[in-house]
Amino acid sequence: MNKWIIAAVVALSLPLSAARAEVDKKAERLWKGKCASCHGADGKGQTDQGGKMGVADYTDAAWQKGHTDAAIKDAITKGVKREKNGKKQEMDPFGEKLDAAQIDSLVAYIRTLK
Ligand code: HEC
Repeated sequence: MNKWIIAAVVALSLPLSAARAEVDKKAERLWKGKCASCHGADGKGQTDQGGKMGVADYTDAAWQKGHTDAAIKDAITKGVKREKNGKKQEMDPFGEKLDAAQIDSLVAYIRTLK
């Protein structure tokens, strides 16, 4: 390959991977700041709040399989209010606090927990 083509390909791909890493860092910060109090930094839900409300373990393969991206996005946007095994499960909606790109980045982040 012509060395100029190689240089161009490298120059074009570097900023992309840097941007991608930046998104992941931002999503991680969001998760730790807004979600980890209930879901745990590791996503296992082993927090005081998580225990009281029966928060599931999102690192679990069965959980990951049982939830589509759309369902995860929907839950983050609209929140959760239901009862399961006698435990009240409540999560505030984040649709007004976070923009669509932030919510998408959280869906992707949740996929990395497994
Ligand atoms: C006040 C505690 C609390 C906070 C903060 C919280 N959640 Fe939740 N979340 C819950 C509870 C309770 C449930 C329902 C139990 C479960 O399915 O694990 C839930 C469920 C979910 C679900 C699964 C929904 C479903 O249909 O099963 C996702 C995905 C989720 N939360 C993501 C997030 C994200 C992302 C954040 C941060 C932006 C967040 N949560 C912040 C308490 C919380």
